[in-house]
Amino acid sequence: MIDLSTTLGNAWFPSPLFTASGCASSGKELAQFIDLREIGAVVTKSVMSKPRHGRATPRMAETPSGMINSIGLQGPGIDQFLAHDLPWLVSQKARVIVSIAGETVEEYATLARKVRSAPGISALEVNISCPNVENRGLVFACDPDASRRVIDGVRKTLGGELPIIAKLSPDVTDLVSIAKGVVDAGADGLALINTVLSMVINLDTMRPHLGGKTGGLSGPAIRPIAVRAIYQVHEALPAVPILGMGGVASGRDALELILAGAKGVSVGTASFGDPAAIITIQNE
Ligand SMILES: Cc1cc2nc3c(=O)[nH]c(=O)nc-3n(C[C@H](O)[C@H](O)[C@H](O)COP(=O)(O)O)c2cc1C
Repeated sequence: MIDLSTTLGNAWFPSPLFTASGCASSGKELAQFIDLREIGAVVTKSVMSKPRHGRATPRMAETPSGMINSIGLQGPGIDQFLAHDLPWLVSQKARVIVSIAGETVEEYATLARKVRSAPGISALEVNISCPNVENRGLVFACDPDASRRVIDGVRKTLGGELPIIAKLSPDVTDLVSIAKGVVDAGADGLALINTVLSMVINLDTMRPHLGGKTGGLSGPAIRPIAVRAIYQVHEALPAVPILGMGGVASGRDALELILAGAKGVSVGTASFGDPAAIITIQNE
């Protein structure tokens, strides 16, 4: 037996392999294919205060070595999530990292307040980087000041116990300064990277393929961007744990992110082709 255990802040995980937020919902579908206890943790789909339908269809397109999506944070809302999804995951003895997303600084703090009293959570991932929310002016992760204020609000609401992992966007010029800002504001760790803002045009209709026009690129196409982002941030902030993700589809890919500086690796897009990919990657 090889000890693959890792830590993110004060949270311990038996394996460095995690699901990627939004690619395994709240784990139920994945549990048909893998034993959720075998992986590091399930990172849940980013949940918002209210239920959401998400964006217009089509919401996905295949691209060279990847895919583009504009789901638009469809979900049940935090109350349903805490009443049904989280207790189910806890009953399965899965470790859980809850991902939250908001449209205002206050919404993030409200979500943190609700999550604070829920049992069975290992860490909170704060998605400040999803490019799919309706209001394009509110991509917190592209604004150093807004990023800091979100994490500051979550930290103050949460108190000291639960580790906060701030999930950042690669769609910025100076990622290190954003990373420093959220760490100063109280993030214990960083998740790198969210999808890369992109677009596909349908040549038959001559219009944007996605209902939401733009979407997030994921899969192997973005792995070199993830490696670069993790490397740069780890070099600047070597003591801050990084959960890396972006195009990991094999054990070697996961190792590349770990060599760049990640302490854990999330698997997203690969699980759409093979729901058991995370276990294969872990074994490799
Ligand atoms: C369909 C889909 C939905 C996603 N939803 C979320 C989300 O709700 N919150 C979030 O932080 N990231 C979300 N992501 C981004 C992934 O968690 C991950 O950061 C990104 O896809 C890169 O990893 P991958 O190439 O392994 O998929 C989503 C990605 C995909 C493909």
